[in-house]
Amino acid sequence: MTLASEASISAKIERMDRRIRRGHGELLSRGIDQTRLVIEGAPTAADAFSFLVMGDSGSSRYGAGSPQRQVAELLFEHQQDVGFVLHTGDVVYLVGSSEQYPRNFIRPYREWLVGGEHWRRLRFDAMTFRLPFLPVPGNHDYYDLSRPLVLLAGLSNPLRRLWPSLVFDVGSHGSRVGEAYARAFLDGLALRPEEELAGHLDRHYRGELDGQRCLAYRPGQFTRLPNRYYHFRWAGVDVFALDSNTLHQDGAAGEGDGNDDLRQKEWLLKGLVASWRNPAVRGRILVLHHPPYASEATKWREPQTLAVRRQLRRVLDRVAAEVGAPTPQRPLLNLVLTGHAHCLELMRSGDTGHGDSHIPWLICGGGGYSLRRQRPQGGTLLAGPPGQERPVAHSELFVGRSGHGARLRRRFTALRVEAAAGSPLKLTLRPLVSEKVSGHWRKEQLAPIRL
Ligand SMILES: [Fe+2]
Repeated sequence: MTLASEASISAKIERMDRRIRRGHGELLSRGIDQTRLVIEGAPTAADAFSFLVMGDSGSSRYGAGSPQRQVAELLFEHQQDVGFVLHTGDVVYLVGSSEQYPRNFIRPYREWLVGGEHWRRLRFDAMTFRLPFLPVPGNHDYYDLSRPLVLLAGLSNPLRRLWPSLVFDVGSHGSRVGEAYARAFLDGLALRPEEELAGHLDRHYRGELDGQRCLAYRPGQFTRLPNRYYHFRWAGVDVFALDSNTLHQDGAAGEGDGNDDLRQKEWLLKGLVASWRNPAVRGRILVLHHPPYASEATKWREPQTLAVRRQLRRVLDRVAAEVGAPTPQRPLLNLVLTGHAHCLELMRSGDTGHGDSHIPWLICGGGGYSLRRQRPQGGTLLAGPPGQERPVAHSELFVGRSGHGARLRRRFTALRVEAAAGSPLKLTLRPLVSEKVSGHWRKEQLAPIRL
């Protein structure tokens, strides 16, 4: 039974463009770039800084003893000395419905929201974050209900009234092709009356990044994102956040067949090349939902993740042609952060023969939904024609579900990333773990990993 339905890539692009009024005359006349933002208070010098990462979190199916809330509490302990929070997608399960936001997002993360002490009064489409909260959309944030699931949800409604803990994590409708995500996190210019648009742009699009006018993100005041994919800079490090839900297919007739996100790939290519050529930039981090490399049992050869690998590889090959081929000491990206695979995993690609060589690929997808095991074949991924396969990536850390019976372990996870001062960029990963042992939640910080 198919539980969720997913719109075509072209439908996702078209709907999201319409929601942000991409290319509207008022934007063009002001020279506003809707794919970048400046975060108020972001350091500009190459200072040391830290940030938090989590993903695949938005679920209420465990009720009061929610692992999502346990992971959130792990992260709250760090909020005083970190710059921002990245979410690697699947913000709200199962189908990204607006009905699920109060229970699956607002309640567990209420401390990060202005007015969170009265979280029941907060609306999902009027959230303001105290600390920069920067998500990318996951596949579940774009899903809609399939017919069997509509039926199941309808049948379960009377039961749920009697037994509230019976949760399917769906409401009566889906995300409406990512509409709930857009209303929760993006600056939905299409929702504003025409006569208010100019004033809104003059008020909130006063940032400037590399000479280009863009949205000014102000923690505690205005915390909307300009687009489904975007770029910002923090202490000389460029962060590119992608929407991989339009990069997860190869397209029936190859690139440019109308069901391919050429525009986003060109944007990433130009952004990375400009970043490499900018002496003020000391490193590059990429964030997206689908992991191009994973050894998690259900995702390591999923068609979508392999398509994202190919799509990203083509972009990085072109970046390498412009700025030089990657070496172990000089990968084209300092770190790639993803979710989707329900674990915390650090993969490292070797010499793939492409621009994606020598990159640390960190999956942070154990934020509170379900947990998965590593595949039984182990952590070394092979690629190549049959009979000539060779290793392309290796898993250096895997934390998720392990063991069986009395030895079953379910370790939910998030991550703290620390950047040292100076150039070139040096990063340290600090995995944060929450695990229920003998009926009690136990917090643990694993040994730091220096990249
Ligand atoms: Fe996902």
